[in-house]
Parts: sequence; structure tokens; C-alpha cells
Amino acid sequence: MIILGIESTAHTFGVGIVKDGKILANAKKTYTTETGGIIPMEAAKHHRENKEEIYFEALSAAGIKEEEIDAIAFSQGPGLAPCLLQGMHFAKELSEKLKKPVVPVNHCIAHLEIGRTTGAKDPVMLYVSGANTQIIAYASGKFRVFGETLDIGIGNFIDTFARYAGIGFPGGPKIEKLALEGKNLIRIPYKVKGMDIALSGILTNLRQKLESEKYNLSDLAFSLQENVFAMITEVSERALAHTGKKELLLGGGVACNKRLQEMCRIMCKERGAKFFCPENNLLQDNGSMIAYTGELLFKNGNFVPFKNIKNLDIAPRQRTDEVEIKYR
Ligand SMILES: Nc1ncnc2c1ncn2[C@@H]1O[C@H](COP(=O)(O)OP(=O)(O)OP(=O)(O)O)[C@@H](O)[C@H]1O
Ligand SMILES: [Mg+2]
Repeated sequence: MIILGIESTAHTFGVGIVKDGKILANAKKTYTTETGGIIPMEAAKHHRENKEEIYFEALSAAGIKEEEIDAIAFSQGPGLAPCLLQGMHFAKELSEKLKKPVVPVNHCIAHLEIGRTTGAKDPVMLYVSGANTQIIAYASGKFRVFGETLDIGIGNFIDTFARYAGIGFPGGPKIEKLALEGKNLIRIPYKVKGMDIALSGILTNLRQKLESEKYNLSDLAFSLQENVFAMITEVSERALAHTGKKELLLGGGVACNKRLQEMCRIMCKERGAKFFCPENNLLQDNGSMIAYTGELLFKNGNFVPFKNIKNLDIAPRQRTDEVEIKYR
């Protein structure tokens, strides 16, 4: 069985191809900026202009013809509406052309399911991406959220700080690089509230420090990482203790960060848990995770036949713990 997956929730347009759980292609292109943040209409335009090229790149990487595709999965939400529409329209276009069904996929759940390729069986998942920061574990039919950010996602938090510093989007990799040169740990607020964290106050504090011009950017980047990554590692550890689970799995673009991986790895080692983290191409937004999750859904009968795709819509605000999981 061959499933095509389309990702378009935000900055990245991706097309992945999966055959029986194996990734055959993971083509993508990401909208970036030199200084400002992401503009939804501009990102949507980026997707529209690149979709055909990415699609054919994926087909050729997988070495298949489009007629061989059994179903077309797409990211239905959550995400930026103009971007989501590009992905859905493309999915419908292909569905009509190939007369194949469409599989709507929740983007966040795809970030988590792709972690299965690492060998994790029943993990606590730390999902840290642009818009989301959640500690999740699967229990009786749903992914349950044990803790989350009370305001903004950790990636958006880092990206906004980077925008204040004038270093462009995405900020994560640039902050990680700057942090390596940081030497002084600057005191900034540490905000863990039960199993949740809060980031907007820390962002204001960092902005004030930046504007005071008393601190160098590397030290701020270093302190940001040490502080905020310690907060999410602490909550992850508590989730492991509470659930009694013995595995931690990272997901989402921020999990590309080597320092965050190191902190989590040390925490797991100290409490005898196993640590899992997919490779960067599968952490950041990508079409493979949509195809992979699409296959799980398709095999379980969760798809829309091509004759009924008219009523299919996007779901910009769908939450991870709203979605019923019938295939596990
Ligand atoms: N090395 C890194 N260190 C920290 N953050 C990083 C790193 N690499 C990427 N990021 C951050 O990852 C985020 C993008 O991740 P991803 O593609 O999973 O998120 P998203 O799709 O924007 O959000 P969501 O999945 O919640 O809709 C950006 O905020 C980016 O700055
Ligand atoms: Mg994402």
C-alpha cells in the first residue's frame, strides 16, 4: 500500500510517500525570512508556487508513478488557515485526478506517530514545536495532555525573541548557534505551574533585557535555552513518574535542539528510562509524518472516498486530545 502525505500547516510545504510503514520520500520546502516573522498569506503563496515541484520531487525520489498511489493524506489542522487551504486543495485536486480517497490527518498526532519509527512503544511524548508545547501520553482511545504551555508554544517563543533580536525566521537554529558562544547564565524567570509552563512573561523579561543593551545576545540565547529547556525537562520527568511509563519520545521542530536532547537524555538516564528522538527531517514539519499517520488511518477505514470529498474542510483549531484514535 502506498500513501502520499501533504503537509502545509505553516511554513513548510511537504510531500511524503510511505509504503507499508516505510518512508520512500520526504520532499519539502520551507518559507523563511531574513528579519521579520512568518506572514500567513505569504507562506500560502510559497506553498502554491512550490507544490507541483515538491510533488514531482517526491514521486521521483520514491521511484513510483502517481497511478500507484492508493490514498492521499493531508494535514487538516491545526494550523494557519490560508496555508491549510493550499494543502487541502492540492489533496482534492490529486484525489479527483487519480480517483483515490483522501485521508484527513491531525498534524500534531502525526508529529507523535512518526516517533514509532524510532522503536518507542508506549512513551511519554514531549511535543515541542512552533505553536505547541505539550506533554502527552496515550491512554484508552486518545492522546491525553498531561501538561502544556499556558500561553505560547516554545518554538513561537524562541522565534519571537529572535525577531526582537532582528535575526529572522526561524529563530530556533540561530538561537541554538548563538547559545554555544554564551558564557554567562543570566537570571530570568522560571515558570512551571503544576504540570504546565508559561512563557509570555519570560519573553517580556528577555525583551527588556535585550532592549536595555546591558547583555550580549549569546548570553541571552544561552540563558533562554538553559532556563526554558530545564522547565520542560522537569515537567517531562514528572509525567514519567506519574504515568509509570519507561520511555520518553521527543517530537516537533524544537526537538532538533541538541541541548534540549542532551538535557532529556540525562534526565532519562538518571531515572532509568529510555530516550527516543527521530532525525531532524522527521521532527520538523514534513509530509512523511502525514503519509505515515495517513496509512494507519486508511488501514482502519478512516478515509473519505473521492466521490465525497466536496464537504471535506480544514480544521485550523483542532486539539490533540479531541481526536479519537481508533487504530491503536
Ligand atoms: N535547533 C533548534 N532549536 C530550537 N528550535 C528549533 C530548532 N530548529 C527548529 N526549531 C523551531 O522549531 C519550530 C518549527 O517546528 P515545527 O515545524 O514542528 O513547528 P510548527 O509546525 O511551526 O508548529 P506546530 O507543529 O505546532 O503547528 C520553529 O519555531 C523553529 O524555530
Ligand atoms: Mg509542526
